[in-house]
Amino acid sequence: MSSVSIRKIRKSFAGLTVLDSVDMEIAPGEFIVILGPSGCGKSTLLNVIAGLDDCESGQIVIDAVDVSGLEPSQRGLAMVFQSYALFPAMTVRRNLSFGMEVAGTPKPTIVQKVDWVAKLLQIEALLDRKPGQLSGGQRQRVAIGRALVRSSSICLFDEPLSNLDAKLRAETRVELKQLHETLKSTMIYVTHDQIEAMTMADRVAVMHKGRVEQFAPPQSIYEKPASLFVAGFVGSPAMNLLEGSLDGAGRFLVGQRSIGSSAYPFEDPSTAGEAVLGIRCEDIDVVEPGSPDSIPAKLAFTELLGADALGWFDCLGKRMSVRLGVDAARSMRKEVGLRFDMAKASFFSASTERRL
Ligand SMILES: Nc1ncnc2c1ncn2[C@@H]1O[C@H](COP(=O)(O)OP(=O)(O)OP(=O)(O)O)[C@@H](O)[C@H]1O
Ligand SMILES: [Mg+2]
Repeated sequence: MSSVSIRKIRKSFAGLTVLDSVDMEIAPGEFIVILGPSGCGKSTLLNVIAGLDDCESGQIVIDAVDVSGLEPSQRGLAMVFQSYALFPAMTVRRNLSFGMEVAGTPKPTIVQKVDWVAKLLQIEALLDRKPGQLSGGQRQRVAIGRALVRSSSICLFDEPLSNLDAKLRAETRVELKQLHETLKSTMIYVTHDQIEAMTMADRVAVMHKGRVEQFAPPQSIYEKPASLFVAGFVGSPAMNLLEGSLDGAGRFLVGQRSIGSSAYPFEDPSTAGEAVLGIRCEDIDVVEPGSPDSIPAKLAFTELLGADALGWFDCLGKRMSVRLGVDAARSMRKEVGLRFDMAKASFFSASTERRL
């Protein structure tokens, strides 16, 4: 187990800033997921940590040692790339053992480690095949295995599951999480898949345009997004967002209507001005039209999702999603009232886009 400190990392390609002062303190044994849309700088950050890419300024510190000037091989990390990068002419066994052979690991140790990892990842029956004779999922396991036999205290993963089909992805996700519990190594895992982030991470770093927007446990990212970007990016369906203004006296005004905002835990309750209200589909109740504190809404359509359902309502000039029971969705009337649970809502400044 090792700690990793990422300090003020900056990098640009041809004048374009790709990493903009990235800071992250990772504790020994943590499972960190770096989540963000395509092009936000995730792979670049991972490559800088691994030493495969240099940066203009900043430091990478592992266990209190500044490794910024060290070669990748001297940093003691294992990395799984998005493309599996297996050697096609070598058998699975050789793919797993090659790195150790090059490093001069004694033969008996190599044999022992290959056996261990093959068992762990259930690829024992595949050891004498070549990568071309494996399915995508099997190749993926070999690639993960190759990183694991190096017994590094830090493993880096760049979208390791993106080439797998949905079922295999879900299975491998669970396996990787269990693996982390067994190995207890520090893991830094890049993905743009928010389900992977929510289910695997101890903490998630949400990146946007080369910056870390929020670095927190998955549940806080979901419940208390730090910015409008995080609110829009995390959660499916996306958080409902309403533009309006806070009057500084406990009401949020949207057009001709207003919503009581005094139940919301503002840092500064007298905050006034243009703002965006965010509310998740499960924090809205459907009530009789005209009920106190409710906003009139019209049902547009419902989606049955199996275990539950979503109602899509036209409300305050927006299409809003509301989580419903299947029976409620089937018998939903057209004209209803919606009541927001303001204690669970989010408010963002319209100008800074940060949480209020
Ligand atoms: N060698 C390079 N030369 C110039 N620009 C680059 C280079 N590598 C990456 N970039 C740019 O840097 C930005 C960040 O790239 P990066 O690969 O880190 O994104 P990412 O978050 O990993 O995206 P994805 O989810 O698509 O893999 C992108 O705008 C990309 O076009
Ligand atoms: Mg990438």
